Amino acid sequence: MKTKKQNADFVHVGAQLLAWYKTNGRPLPFRKTKDPYTIWISEIIFQQTRIEQGLGHYSRFIERFPDVNALANADSDEVLLYWKGLGYYSRALNLHKAAQKIVNAYGGVFPSQLSHILQLNGVGHYTAAAIASICYEERIPAVDGNFYRVLSRFFADDYDISQSKAFRYFSELAMRMMPNDAPGHFNQAMMDLGSEICKPKNPQCGVCPLNEECMSFATGKMLDFPVKTKKVKITDLSLTYFFVEYGDQFLIRQRGDDFIWKKLYEFPTEVPPLFLAHCKHETTIRHQLTHKNLTIHVSRITLDSEKEFLDFATAYGFMISDLEHAKNRSFPKPLENYLERL
Ligand code: ADE
Repeated sequence: MKTKKQNADFVHVGAQLLAWYKTNGRPLPFRKTKDPYTIWISEIIFQQTRIEQGLGHYSRFIERFPDVNALANADSDEVLLYWKGLGYYSRALNLHKAAQKIVNAYGGVFPSQLSHILQLNGVGHYTAAAIASICYEERIPAVDGNFYRVLSRFFADDYDISQSKAFRYFSELAMRMMPNDAPGHFNQAMMDLGSEICKPKNPQCGVCPLNEECMSFATGKMLDFPVKTKKVKITDLSLTYFFVEYGDQFLIRQRGDDFIWKKLYEFPTEVPPLFLAHCKHETTIRHQLTHKNLTIHVSRITLDSEKEFLDFATAYGFMISDLEHAKNRSFPKPLENYLERL
């Protein structure tokens, strides 16, 4: 549905949004700065983690890695540790690699050109646009799910957001609203509006600064937008872990760089047949990743022979850990929960 309204000029709506943001925008710590490093870290964290949930992590991360050199010089294990609890750990590994790229390729100076920002590991169009608009006043919309929701509702536009062209389509729509100044504020106003007012399930239209001209509000059809036809394909995956213990020690190893949970720690997935005599199935955990429904079986093997324990660890390269040592390692969420319950 292409509406006549979309051909009109909507810069005044952007101005209304900015006015609303001035008094209603959230006083977030990263909004006090235009330092691109800090903004980059905040965007990577808060694109996939709710603000309330991630603020503590954000502060600790910035305190420990206050600039790009500090992050580039850190050990990747420590970067992962500071990410503990945020999930989607590939974000942390990408930040680390990108920091090293900034040091090596740009002498430690954060790039200001959009094409260079886009080449940093883990930085897509949304993040690059957010950085460029907030730090360098570039008039580029940082289109994410909030933009899709706000714009499709405002224009009562049924463009399918699961199409690959949706990003471009909604970027163009956003440009109609984007004022000439304060692009960073405009983008962040859209994010705040999307998360505080134009919420997915119960939009607070009564207090929305855009309600007078919102086309879906006019007909009460807010919840019909955005339109999304294709659902992400989710597959099932079953995993088996063995919690192999001797006294208060147990075995862990670091995962590789491929497949899920890159570089996180885990328990053995196979054990010698001899161990199975000491094995009892302990728990089955269900856990959802973006594209996978996991069923994780954890069996517990309590050995009474230190030699068997050590021989197995040595032969297969496992690390000997205890709960204190494991606290300083990052595990996938379900395994972290398992350890917490021990
Ligand atoms: N989510 C991601 N980045 C954000 C920002 N700058 N403000 C509010 N929410 C966000």
